[in-house]
Amino acid sequence: MKIKIINGPNLNMLGKRPKEHYGTKTLDEINEMIKKEAEGCEVSFFQSNHEGDIIDEIQASIGVWDAIVINPGGYTHTSVAIRDALEIFPGKKVEVHLSKVNERDDFRKINYITDVCDKTFMGMYEMSYIEAIKYLKNTK
Ligand code: DQA
Repeated sequence: MKIKIINGPNLNMLGKRPKEHYGTKTLDEINEMIKKEAEGCEVSFFQSNHEGDIIDEIQASIGVWDAIVINPGGYTHTSVAIRDALEIFPGKKVEVHLSKVNERDDFRKINYITDVCDKTFMGMYEMSYIEAIKYLKNTK
């Protein structure tokens, strides 16, 4: 299975963000954990702070990658355009959040992403990504 991991804005700053929400690991450390868990799969990592670049990456994944694991960061709560791009992607789609987005600020309860994805994992810090990989490995 070929899995594209996409991280949105500010996730490149993990390690410096509030630990009570996001844990202590950097994005590089999380990506190393993902690589180990995804042994036997091909994985590729993409992070951007720009909405259009994330959309381009989702579109470029069509027909190339079997699955997308995406943490859209703050765009989760604002981006109809990322939602629309995900809707077109024909493979498996897994939404990931480090924090419990549905138990935080009211504006984080607005979510444009969940219902175009096959599965969501949240609130387990870096383990949310690991659960996403396990899910994909079990549902090929
Ligand atoms: C996040 C939650 C979002 O509300 C926030 O804007 C982020 C990270 C998470 O992983 O918990 O940047 O997606």
